Amino acid sequence: MTAFTYFKDDWTPVIDDYLAKHLADEVDSKKISQTMSYSVMAGGKRLRPLLFLATLNALGKKIEEPEIRIACGIELIHTYSLIHDDLPAMDNDDYRRGKLTSHKKWGEAEAILAGDALLPLGIQWIAQGSNSTELVKIITQAVGPNGMVGGQYLDIDSTNNESVAGDADFINKMEWLKTGCLIQASVEMAAVYAKATDIEQAKLIDYAKAFGRSYQIYDDLVDVVETSEEAGKATHKDQEEGKNNTLTLLGIDKSRKELRDFIKQAKDDLHGLNGEILAGFLDLYQKVL
Ligand code: IPE
Ligand code: IPE
Ligand code: MG
Ligand code: MG
Ligand code: MG
Repeated sequence: MTAFTYFKDDWTPVIDDYLAKHLADEVDSKKISQTMSYSVMAGGKRLRPLLFLATLNALGKKIEEPEIRIACGIELIHTYSLIHDDLPAMDNDDYRRGKLTSHKKWGEAEAILAGDALLPLGIQWIAQGSNSTELVKIITQAVGPNGMVGGQYLDIDSTNNESVAGDADFINKMEWLKTGCLIQASVEMAAVYAKATDIEQAKLIDYAKAFGRSYQIYDDLVDVVETSEEAGKATHKDQEEGKNNTLTLLGIDKSRKELRDFIKQAKDDLHGLNGEILAGFLDLYQKVL
């Protein structure tokens, strides 16, 4: 067991219980609550809320109910992005987190609405937990047109589009926006909330940038390395569907090298901080290396 696995095993059930209870209690309509909960409670890794909490921990900030509410708000927003990412008009996927995707289970309109409901509820939880417009500013910028949705737009635009196939700058930008921005925001919100010093903030943001950029490279490797059962979602389909990503650009060996370089970079960025748990997040990548 590492410091990271202890941390994850301690806090994942707290996150899961909070999500289940508060989605049931705070959503008036049982039907929409059930549709939202179905995807949220399907068993994600809770990477982004754990990253928020681990950053607080690194800064010596105590984790209590308001901090859990912020962390869970981030997970609601992430789950919205997955539900919409899987829609027939987007990646058209049937399985997510080991279960049928939202639109397969409930219908397309219901899935769109579940996503639409999770996004503002997530922002509301972050606002209420933090009592800070600063955190709301960080999260809304990270998931809007200059962040995650902007990246998803570039992804859709570049699917089956030969003209970007060799364009490393484009692919870097797309993968950073669609996946890196929310990961950076999870760390940055914790740094601001815990009132990190300027030096701590700068180191944490450097770490988050390396981690955020590397996460989609990892996800693109998962598509070719893991079975659908292992990944809980369809694999071996990115290339077939004309996705342009780091893997199609560099191939498997160079993608692995990129990932190893980012792991080193992210760990180096933590020097001088109480960063053992944050460094442990990078162990996740071992299964694709
Ligand atoms: C998958 O995210 C989608 C990406 C942004 C790469 P995760 O790998 O964190 O998925 P869950 O939350 O564990 O299901
Ligand atoms: C998803 O990227 C990114 C977001 C949801 C913002 P992918 O489309 O590669 O994620 P998976 O492979 O479906 O989880
Ligand atoms: Mg996608
Ligand atoms: Mg997808
Ligand atoms: Mg993927």
